[in-house]
Parts: sequence; C-alpha cells; structure tokens
Amino acid sequence: MNRGSSVLVLTCVVILVASSEAQLEVGYYNCSCPRAEELIRTVVRAAIRRDPGNGPGLVRMFFHDCFVRGCDASVLLDTAPGSNATSVEKKSLANNPSLRGFGVIERAKRVVERRCRRTVSCADIVAFAARDASSIMGGIDFDVPAGRRDGRVSNLSEVLDNLPPPFFNSSQLVASFAAKNLTADDMVTLSGAHSFGRTHCSTISFRLYPQIAADMNATYGRTLRRQCPAATGGQDPVVPLDLVTRLRLDNQYYKNVQTLEVPFTSDATLLTQNDTAALVDLYARNRTLWMSRFAAAMVKMGNLDVLTGNQGEIRKFCNRVN
Ligand code: HEM
Ligand SMILES: *[C@@H]1O[C@H](CO)[C@@H](O)[C@H](O)[C@H]1NC(C)=O
Ligand SMILES: *[C@@H]1O[C@H](CO)[C@@H](O)[C@H](O)[C@H]1NC(C)=O
Ligand SMILES: *[C@@H]1O[C@H](CO)[C@@H](O)[C@H](O)[C@H]1NC(C)=O
Ligand SMILES: *[C@@H]1O[C@H](CO)[C@@H](O)[C@H](O)[C@H]1NC(C)=O
Ligand SMILES: *[C@@H]1O[C@H](CO)[C@@H](O)[C@H](O)[C@H]1NC(C)=O
Ligand SMILES: *[C@@H]1O[C@H](CO)[C@@H](O)[C@H](O)[C@H]1NC(C)=O
Ligand SMILES: *[C@@H]1O[C@H](CO)[C@@H](O)[C@H](O)[C@H]1NC(C)=O
Ligand SMILES: *[C@@H]1O[C@H](CO)[C@@H](O)[C@H](O)[C@H]1NC(C)=O
Repeated sequence: MNRGSSVLVLTCVVILVASSEAQLEVGYYNCSCPRAEELIRTVVRAAIRRDPGNGPGLVRMFFHDCFVRGCDASVLLDTAPGSNATSVEKKSLANNPSLRGFGVIERAKRVVERRCRRTVSCADIVAFAARDASSIMGGIDFDVPAGRRDGRVSNLSEVLDNLPPPFFNSSQLVASFAAKNLTADDMVTLSGAHSFGRTHCSTISFRLYPQIAADMNATYGRTLRRQCPAATGGQDPVVPLDLVTRLRLDNQYYKNVQTLEVPFTSDATLLTQNDTAALVDLYARNRTLWMSRFAAAMVKMGNLDVLTGNQGEIRKFCNRVN
C-alpha cells in the first residue's frame, strides 16, 4: 500500500465518525466516490471549452438553486410531486428561458453515476460545477463542503418571492439577502459574478428606451442601444454583462459599477449607499481581496437551507425525483 492510499483509508475512518453530524464537509466523497470532484471538473471544463457561456450559466444556477428552497437541486426538476411540467421552479420567468447549464449538470451526473451509483447528489454537483466555473474562468479556487441531499419539491410560485429582480434598489437587495442570512457585504461580493455572462435585452430595454436611465452611463447606454434595438422583430438578443472582460470572472465589475457601465438597477444601486459604495471601491482596487471574499461568500451561500443526513434523497436523474 503506498502512502497516498493509506492517507485515503485514514480519512475514510474520520468520515464515518463525523457523518452522524449533519454538516457539510470538504472531501465528503473521499471514500464513497473519491474521483467525483475530478470527474465533474473534467465535464465542466469540456463544456466551457465548447461554450464559454456555460461558465456564467453554472455560477448563476447555483445562486438560483440556493435562494429558492435551499441548495437542493430543486431548480433542476422538470416535474415533482404536486408540480407539473409548467409549475416547477425551472419555468419561472427568473429561470426560463435565461438559465443555462442544465445539460452540463446532466452530463456530470451521468459520468459520476457510472462510477458511483446513487452516491453523489445533484445539489452537490451544482455546487462543485459553480466552483469549477469560477476556477476555470476566474482563477478563483476554493474547497466546497459537500453532503447536500436532493429535494423532492419544486414550486414555481416560490421563485419570485425569493430571487431579487434586477430593478431592486440597494435597500431591497440588502433585505432580500438578509432573508437568507447573507449580509450586505455578501450581496456586494456575490454581485461580482456579473463580471461575466450575459443579459437578455428584454430585461434591460426599459432602461434604454425611451430614455437611457439616469443611473446608467449615457455612452454605455448608447452602446447597449445598438446591441438591443427598440424593435427586435420578435427576437430577444443578449448583451454581455461586462463589456470590458466579458468572459472573465474578475473585479472589473466593480470598476464598471463606478462608471455606471452596468446593465441593471441592482448593479448601479450599489453606489447609492455609503457602505456598499465603499466596498465597491475596495474591490475595484483590490482584485485578490475580492477573489478571496467571493470564494468565502460562495461557500456561505452553499450552506443555505441544505438537506443533509437522511433528508431528501440522492436522485438517479437530476431532472426528476426518484
Ligand atoms: C444581487 C441580486 C441579483 C440580481 C437582481 C441578479 C439579476 C440577474 C439578471 C436579471 C441576469 C440576466 C438574466 C438574463 O436576462 O439573461 C443575471 C445574470 C447573471 N447573474 Fe445575476 N443577479 C443577482 C445576483 C447574482 C448572484 C449572487 C450571482 C452568483 C453568485 C449571479 C450570477 C449571475 C451570472 C453569472 C449571470 C450571467 C448568466 C449567463 O450568462 O447565463 N447573480 N443576473
Ligand atoms: C478528504 O481528504 C482531504 C485530503 O486528504 C482532507 O483534507 C479532507 O479533510 C477529507 N475529508 C473527509 C470528510 O474525509
Ligand atoms: C406552491 O406554493 C404555493 C404558494 O406558496 C402553494 O399554495 C402551493 O400549494 C405549492 N404547491 C406545491 C405543489 O407545493
Ligand atoms: C400545473 O399545475 C398548476 C399549478 O398547480 C396548474 O395551475 C396547472 O393547471 C397545471 N397544468 C397542467 C397542464 O396540468
Ligand atoms: C427602495 O425602494 C423601496 C420600495 O420602492 C423604497 O421604499 C425605498 O425607500 C427605496 N430605497 C432607496 C435607498 O432608494
Ligand atoms: C437564518 O438564521 C436564523 C437564526 O439563526 C434561522 O432561524 C433561520 O432558519 C436562518 N435562515 C436561513 C434561510 O438560513
Ligand atoms: C461613463 O463612462 C466613461 C468611460 O468609462 C467614463 O469616463 C465616465 O466617467 C463615465 N461617466 C460616469 C457618469 O460615470
Ligand atoms: C454618506 O457619506 C456622505 C459623504 O461622505 C455623508 O455626507 C453622509 O452623511 C453619509 N451617509 C450615511 C448614511 O452615512
Ligand atoms: C489586497 O487585499 C489583500 C488581502 O486579500 C491584502 O493582503 C493586500 O495588502 C491588499 N492590497 C492592497 C493594494 O491594498
């Protein structure tokens, strides 16, 4: 037995003792599926290479999962007991049609399931995938405590009550995060995810027409107008959230907020309160500080209302309950 495998055996003993406590743990699958995280990362990496939009898609998916009924993969369900194909979370205006990355989670699940049957939850795969996307597209590396179980409920009517809309002002955003025991600092820190990915024009057209919104940089607004014409002929084009480093998860977002070159009210509004504006300034100046705070805030968000122990289940397919 080489040194590596004896270490693995040792950590397996530890996990058995610790598992009576219902708490997420780093290395949760050390013994039950030692290659799980590596397999998931490989799938995520390939998906991002194929379509970089999968990266931001997966980071946003984690947020939308955690804020609605906790990080329990409820956002992945196509149907659930008591809910039909039109009344699950996925079908909410907040998710449909904009949320993306479902296929990546499905593939990761298939790969992991082949090696370790009914062992790795879809909720953990969503969390690992968001971390991997942050690492691959932002160089933000962190450990993700795991051991989440999958929920059996998905209810469209819970989504808009829990996810803040892009027209919220700073006090509304702070309240919406406080409802999840997340602070104003966490909110500002996590909003940095808007440094990659896209928005649909329909989400922002009211800020471009008939007038460019007062809290939007006019030059930037005119640029967006070209990409989001008033008459789209039934199409709904998309524009990058960050015009400077559109595919990089970085602190450019905070510089964009400072010059009001951001699409949403919920971004620009961070300048309207002293404490949030001060943090925007700090992050705009210090990339590494933001990166480490972002990692910590993602882990914190990942604890939201999780199911552990014997709660919920380990789904066989991520889009339906067992
Ligand atoms: C602070 C409150 C937030 C609001 C109001 C908000 C709102 C939105 C909206 C409206 C979009 C564009 C959807 C579309 O039209 O395609 C979007 C995109 C995105 N959001 Fe947020 N968001 C918030 C916080 C977060 C958080 C906490 C994260 C993750 C940590 C996040 C990650 C993303 C990402 C990565 C995208 C781009 C998605 C893609 O390209 O597919 N957002 N957000
Ligand atoms: C899993 O292994 C890693 C690396 O050896 C270790 O840091 C971690 O604590 C282990 N976790 C569990 C739950 O055994
Ligand atoms: C969904 O939520 C609504 C409002 O909270 C509730 O009235 C309804 O019974 C729920 N449906 C299911 C299937 O849980
Ligand atoms: C699906 O469920 C919703 C809410 O329970 C209900 O209003 C709707 O009629 C159902 N649709 C179908 C096709 O069964
Ligand atoms: C935010 O909007 C709410 C509801 O419209 C309003 O009561 C509140 O005063 C606003 N806060 C700020 C800081 O503008
Ligand atoms: C927030 O914290 C309170 C007090 O500790 C707790 O009762 C509540 O369940 C928590 N809410 C969430 C969403 O974690
Ligand atoms: C608008 O953006 C330009 C270019 O970044 C910048 O120089 C200017 O200061 C911005 N205006 C405002 C009001 O922030
Ligand atoms: C915010 O900062 C400004 C300028 O420094 C100051 O005049 C104002 O009192 C501060 N407001 C709050 C609520 O702290
Ligand atoms: C940026 O933040 C890091 C902590 O992450 C700190 O060590 C460093 O001194 C800060 N850099 C500047 C220029 O303030």
